[in-house]
Amino acid sequence: MRILFATSEARPLIKTGGLADVSGALPVALRAIGLDCRLLLPGYPAVIAGCVDVKPVCALNGLPGDVVANLLEASMPDNGMPLYIVDAPELYQRKGGPYQDIAGHDHPDNALRFAVFSKVAAMLAASDTPLDWHPDLLHCNDWQTGLAPAYLRLSGETTPSIMTVHNLAYQGVFPRANMSLVGLPPESFAIDGVEYYGSLSFLKAGLYYADRLTTVSPSYAEEIRLPALGMGMQGLLSTRGADLVGILNGIDTEEWDPANDPHLPHKFSARSRAGKQRCKSKLQQDLNLEPNKDAPLFGVIARLAHQKGLDLILAVADGILHRGGQIALLGTGEKVLEAAFRDLGALHPGQVASVIGYDEGLSHRIEAGSDIFLMPSRFEPCGLNQLYSLRYGTIPVVHATGGLKDTVEDGVTGFVFEEPTAHALWLAVDRALRAHADKKAWKRMMRAAMSRDFSWEKSAREYEALYRSMLETA
Ligand code: ADP
Ligand code: GLC
Repeated sequence: MRILFATSEARPLIKTGGLADVSGALPVALRAIGLDCRLLLPGYPAVIAGCVDVKPVCALNGLPGDVVANLLEASMPDNGMPLYIVDAPELYQRKGGPYQDIAGHDHPDNALRFAVFSKVAAMLAASDTPLDWHPDLLHCNDWQTGLAPAYLRLSGETTPSIMTVHNLAYQGVFPRANMSLVGLPPESFAIDGVEYYGSLSFLKAGLYYADRLTTVSPSYAEEIRLPALGMGMQGLLSTRGADLVGILNGIDTEEWDPANDPHLPHKFSARSRAGKQRCKSKLQQDLNLEPNKDAPLFGVIARLAHQKGLDLILAVADGILHRGGQIALLGTGEKVLEAAFRDLGALHPGQVASVIGYDEGLSHRIEAGSDIFLMPSRFEPCGLNQLYSLRYGTIPVVHATGGLKDTVEDGVTGFVFEEPTAHALWLAVDRALRAHADKKAWKRMMRAAMSRDFSWEKSAREYEALYRSMLETA
């Protein structure tokens, strides 16, 4: 089975969040079970600089905005995963992140940038593909690829497509005036089409035109059919309920392996946990926290966004410190939250370390060196940090939502609270602190957490079964 996996991020080349982790690992897991899966990525500077074995394939004509682009073929640097890259320097070769400039503002031409990317995905999956490899199926991810199923369907192509929602909060909504630029027929600007409250929504296009829809946990697949977390798409998602499934993400168990993690000063495993204590001491030293091995150390790693419930952490921070706890936070994002955590750190030197920035090595060292991981997300499609925490014996405290609810067992591998309020979080933190003080109970929880298996193989088999069922009905 030949699968073209279109995504705007994939680690280790380019990452802003969990989408990159999934795109870096799921296609590899699919190949490991015998599928011919290949990635399609935009040619951001980091992608062009980081990939290997680059060869030109062809020029791409007929793109939105008459953009000039070339298709390249290459491989991932670490595992040889085959890639196609849309090389369009005027769109992708620029400073800043994949979606925003250095100042944190969206690139003004994002509609064109991702219309072109989606269009190329559709062209490669079409019957007259310029490749000597014809995909049986196009797998799209998030709004950046949302127009691809629309281009395919509206041009009468029959290659089936899947739209995977990693986060319904990001929808790629642009003014209606972009309709002619992206080159969709005017009739598609309708409720039964790409129209969303008077604007053009790339995500809605994907949700409407793709043959099947998936999201990254079973609970989130249920939650998004209802107004509370449906972000305005609940109507469409419930209508398409029969085509929507939740497949839980896995984790890359080689990248996230405490027994073999090059980012850690000491290694450890479920059976031999002494190294974890040493990682904690080293982390305290590195982050200027008091060198106290009994102080419960709370880790937080997140995009600083409303979704992640960081204001709830700010609200319980005093309580944690009062009980002798320490907090190590790593994150970047909303300026107000960055400032609030900086202030908290300045107010409590030795007890709170706020590192504002993006640092992959430190994210591994916080997972390894913390005792407890805080993840009070208001909603969480899957969440990966709670899974890394489980594997690193760092007991997660999570809100019962989406993938958090599906992966953390209350009182067994972590602490789960029902309402996204500071009070409910505090009660769960209190339970965690009591358990932490009971060495036997804590050891039992750590062992249970570390023994859970979240490797990709099971999820890859579920995607395989879905692909097969689609090709049978196609
Ligand atoms: P989301 O995709 O919503 O951000 P996930 O939990 O699925 O949430 O994935 C987040 C990923 O990004 C994890 O791999 C996490 O370690 C990483 N991450 C988030 N913020 C940072 C940061 N400041 N530095 C390093 N890694 C980060
Ligand atoms: C999104 C979600 C996160 C999920 C990730 C990968 O960014 O916010 O919950 O784990 O995508 O699917």
